[in-house]
Amino acid sequence: MYTDLISFQDLTAEEVMDLLSFADELKRLQRHHRPFQPLLGQTIAMIFEKPSLRTRVTFEVGIMQLGGHAVMLETRLGERESVSDVARNLDRWVDGIVARTFSHDVLTEMAACADIPVINALSDRLHPCQILADAQALREHKGELSNLKLAFVGDGNNVCASWFEFAAHVPISVTLICPPGYEVEPEIRSFAEQHAGGRVQVTHDLEEGLKDADAVYTDVWTSMGQEKEKAKREKAFAPYQVNARVMALAKKDAVFMHCLPAKRGLEVTDDVLDGPQSIVLDQAENRLHAQKAVMVRLMERGKDGMCVKRRARMSNKS
Ligand code: CP
Repeated sequence: MYTDLISFQDLTAEEVMDLLSFADELKRLQRHHRPFQPLLGQTIAMIFEKPSLRTRVTFEVGIMQLGGHAVMLETRLGERESVSDVARNLDRWVDGIVARTFSHDVLTEMAACADIPVINALSDRLHPCQILADAQALREHKGELSNLKLAFVGDGNNVCASWFEFAAHVPISVTLICPPGYEVEPEIRSFAEQHAGGRVQVTHDLEEGLKDADAVYTDVWTSMGQEKEKAKREKAFAPYQVNARVMALAKKDAVFMHCLPAKRGLEVTDDVLDGPQSIVLDQAENRLHAQKAVMVRLMERGKDGMCVKRRARMSNKS
């Protein structure tokens, strides 16, 4: 049973599939303007150490649609007071925390200190909410995820790393195609390999990695916090730009995916990003529905008035 959403390593395959199905159901409800407010009267603190468009707006709109209220904090955690002091104060006032942090360790510390659920809104290591929305969009376009091949062209950092963890639970094949030195970190790759067998792979060769791909995914070459490495990264990744020639190496009906924001003309060309194979806006739309599913599963209160995390902690203490 998961009590926070920090990493897919904390979830079972059934729990991941449940979130995807629930996100589909919430999308249908929203399309039909059917009110669904299980978080009525609840307040969620949204802590953003880095800029955001999609994550911030979709969480805030999602909280409002679920009947809750969002409190926004733009701050660098651990500077004014310790992470644990922030977590233990918030715990007394609000019902959940959504946090985008530079350091993944800050997120895990916050989750350990708070009796309320903590949701990863992107760290330097992982971005699970993005992958739930991506998988929902991919399933909408391809019918099912089973036996699909996703080729991730670019950096093996947070977005790709969460795709590797996702592939540990869902029968989808994920291949990272990157320059040497930009692979997924060993601990995450090892977790994915143990659980997903041959379904996660790394190659430096575009032709090999894109062969038979049903989806081609890319992300910016220089993420937030890596600005000092910009010139070095642009040189290393230049051969890995997703353009029409690279898309043609995948299946004819392959979709193009990007978490956005995109640096047009660097990791992707305009004709691909805006072209008929692109499903980037469906991915962005689904951030709303996928995150609503996560918030309801973690924050909905049972008959005892407690969310799953507080109940689990109370029972551990007694
Ligand atoms: N994809 C994503 O997380 O977008 P934002 O940085 O705009 O939130």
